[in-house]
Amino acid sequence: MKNNVDLQQMKLRYGIVGRDEALDEAIKTAVLVARTDLSVLIQGESGVGKEVIPRIIHDNSLRKNKRYIAINCGSIPEGTIDSELFGHEKGAFTSAIGEHEGYFGAADGGTLFLDEVGELPLSTQARLLRVLETGEYIRVGSNEPRHTNARIVAATNVDIPNAIREGRFREDLYYRLCTINIKMPPLRERRGDAVLLFKKFALDTATKFNIPEPVRLTPEAEEVVNSYKWPGNIRQLRNITEQLSILSQERLITPQTLAKYNIVPNSNMETGLATLNNKSASSEHHDYENEIKWLAHAVIELRNEVNELKKMAGTDVTASTNVPSVSTQVKNVSPQAQPTLPVTARTITTMDSTRNNQVDDEIQTAEEIVEAESLNLFDMERKNIIKALQRNHYRRKAAAEELGISERTLYRKIKDYGIEE
Ligand SMILES: Nc1ncnc2c1ncn2[C@@H]1O[C@H](COP(=O)(O)OP(=O)(O)OP(=O)(O)O)[C@@H](O)[C@H]1O
Ligand SMILES: [Mg+2]
Repeated sequence: MKNNVDLQQMKLRYGIVGRDEALDEAIKTAVLVARTDLSVLIQGESGVGKEVIPRIIHDNSLRKNKRYIAINCGSIPEGTIDSELFGHEKGAFTSAIGEHEGYFGAADGGTLFLDEVGELPLSTQARLLRVLETGEYIRVGSNEPRHTNARIVAATNVDIPNAIREGRFREDLYYRLCTINIKMPPLRERRGDAVLLFKKFALDTATKFNIPEPVRLTPEAEEVVNSYKWPGNIRQLRNITEQLSILSQERLITPQTLAKYNIVPNSNMETGLATLNNKSASSEHHDYENEIKWLAHAVIELRNEVNELKKMAGTDVTASTNVPSVSTQVKNVSPQAQPTLPVTARTITTMDSTRNNQVDDEIQTAEEIVEAESLNLFDMERKNIIKALQRNHYRRKAAAEELGISERTLYRKIKDYGIEE
């Protein structure tokens, strides 16, 4: 097994920003275990960026040309979760008018990402343990064991040892799941990364909303951003950067401006929302500033929540080109739904997996899906480089800095990819 992982290339490919050692370790582990079939448990607080890890594992595994199915265990109702995961026979329950393959069957040969695995009901945990141990599962309403060769990657932001103590999670399942344990560090422990991420999100937001000049931090504000505790991790940092980019009159952000969003040194104040809710010291007089801020804030929050909900409510299914199209009603999520982390192929969301047979005519933009599926990793890297060059007006030094690579590497990649400047 090749042991030297090209971290820079991985980061570039997946749009990961940061130089923290624990983050590097997480990416490295993901690449190293990719070629094994060991099950992996990714642990980390909410918003730390766990979702990129299973993608790295799948794309670097021998299964990369098979299906990658991501499901959010917390969003499937308890009453239907077994049939969603393991399938059901015709007539297994009142509404089971046809048979259903289930995700374990659909992911045969590929990778199944069980997000929020800590939310699984105990009875489903027992079924999952059986699949992990024997590869066997039984559809709802059947006695016949079936076999699946799906590789399981799971993630959780729940403190599982605590859930075990409280009887909400099976201890045997925990040990079986975390054959390989990947810990994603919280942002507060990633020294210096918050500022790098701020810069990335400021550039992304400026590009997305056609803002001529991205916001920048004064050196003092950089210190604040680095020492703030970021309880909502990268998701919170992205939201705050978007708010500042849109709402701030000044392009140069000072500690005073940050304080208006409750981003203060050594603080773990909940979010920027509190300040927008309350009257801030500097806006004693009523000039509608707060209302405008509130509205803009609400719009941004709403958009982000809708995007999160879209992801939660559905199932992300991506497959490579040589796999038959996923036979479910699928709908493209707009690229804006993924504002920060480019994925290797566009995310396809299953809107209603119970209607599996009304397939192809309900595919909204088939061409887009085909295009998305054919976007391979190299296309993504190439696109990331072009975008960074454009954002930096083709100044290689600045683009290399933004991408976190040396100018020489950037030069080589421009040549390798035949990018015209
Ligand atoms: N290293 C990174 N570089 C750039 N953006 C990132 C990075 N890590 C995470 N993000 C962005 O941060 C946001 C949160 O990441 P993600 O959804 O993976 O969190 P999570 O750990 O799964 O959280 P939760 O447990 O709440 O689901 C996403 O918008 C993602 O695109
Ligand atoms: Mg998540």
